[in-house]
Amino acid sequence: MDVILVIGALGQIGSALVSKLRDYYPGRKVLASDIKPSSEFDKDFVYLDATDMVHLRDIIRHHKITEVYHLAAILSAAGEVKPLDTWNLNMKLWLHVLEASRQCGVKKVFFPSSIAVFGSQAVKRKTPQDAFLNPNTVYGMSKAAGEHWGQYYYDRYGLDVRSLRYPGVVGCGTLPGGGTTDYAVAIFYKAVAQENFVCFLKEDTVLPMMYIDDAIMATIKLMEAPKTKIRVRTSYNINGVSFSPKELTAAIRNWYPEFCVEYAPDYRQQIAAGWPNSIDGSIAQNDWGWEAMFDLERLTETMIKGLQNRRFQEKVSA
Ligand code: NAD
Ligand code: SER
Repeated sequence: MDVILVIGALGQIGSALVSKLRDYYPGRKVLASDIKPSSEFDKDFVYLDATDMVHLRDIIRHHKITEVYHLAAILSAAGEVKPLDTWNLNMKLWLHVLEASRQCGVKKVFFPSSIAVFGSQAVKRKTPQDAFLNPNTVYGMSKAAGEHWGQYYYDRYGLDVRSLRYPGVVGCGTLPGGGTTDYAVAIFYKAVAQENFVCFLKEDTVLPMMYIDDAIMATIKLMEAPKTKIRVRTSYNINGVSFSPKELTAAIRNWYPEFCVEYAPDYRQQIAAGWPNSIDGSIAQNDWGWEAMFDLERLTETMIKGLQNRRFQEKVSA
C-alpha cells in the first residue's frame, strides 16, 4: 500500500491536495507536514522543516513513505524581497527531497514548477512546452533549475520524478503566500465583502491561471499515469484559463455590479510582464489526457459561492 507524504501541506495548494488525496485514496495514509502548526489537519500531520535533512529522512523511513509531494517554496513576489535567501531555501528544500527520496527508496516524487520559468525569450501566446527558459525572478530561476534536477535524478538514479508548471492557482480554501498571481484570489475576498479592491497589476495584464480543482486533478492524473506515458521529465506545461484584471473584474461585476477596482501597479507588474499570456498544454493532453474543466465564468461563480458560503458559516457560528 502506498504511503504519501505532502511537504508544505498547509499552503494554498497543499491543503487542497491533502484533502483531495484523502478522499481519492480512502485506504491510503496521506501524511501532511509543514513548518507551521496545523489547526486544519488533526490526524496524520507532522511538524517538518524540510531544510532538516535528518528529520526528513527519519519521517520517510519511519512512515515507510512511497510517494512525496514537495510543495514548500518561497513564491515569486516574496522571493524578490530576499533573492539570495529565496534561492538558498528553494534549492535546499528540493535537493533534500530528491536526495532523501533516493536514499530511502521512495517510488514517486512530485515537483511543482511554474509559468515563472518562462521569460522574455518565450513566445507569449500559447507558450510551447519547449520554449527557451530565461526566468525574470529568483523564484523562476529556482524552478527552472529544479526542473533540471528532477530530470537528472530520473536519468541518473531512476527516481520517478514528475512535475507540472502550474499557472496562477485560484481557490478560496487558503490564501496564497507571496505570488504575483495572488491578486486573482484577493480580489474575490474584497468583492464578496462588498469592498473596493486595489490591484497591484495593470488592468490589461493577461496571465495564465487555473482553478484549484483543476490544478489538483492535474497533479493526481500526472502521478497516476503509467510511467511509459511520462515523456517529459523536466516539467509539463498545463493550460487553464487566461484573463486580465479587467476581464476578471467584469466577470465579478455580473455578481456584484457595484464592485470597483483601482489600479496601483507595483514591482509585481514587472514580474507579470515577463510571463506568458497563455500556455500550450497539448503535450500533457496527448501524454496523459490533461484537460481543464474551469473557464472564467465557472471559476468566478465557484469562488463567489465558496466565499459567500464561508461568510455565512462564520456568521452562524459567531
Ligand atoms: P504556499 O506559500 O501557500 O505554501 C507553502 C507551504 O510551505 C506553507 O504552508 C509553508 O509554511 C510551507 N513551508 C515553507 N517553508 C517550509 C519548510 N522549510 N519546510 C516545510 N514546509 C515549509 O504555496 P502554494 O501556493 O501552496 O504553492 C505550493 C507550490 O506550488 C510551491 O512550490 C509553488 O512554487 C508552486 N506553485 C504555486 C502556484 C500558485 O499559484 N499557488 C503557481 C505555480 C507554482
Ligand atoms: N502563482 C505563482 C506566483 O505568482 C506562480 O508560480 O508566484
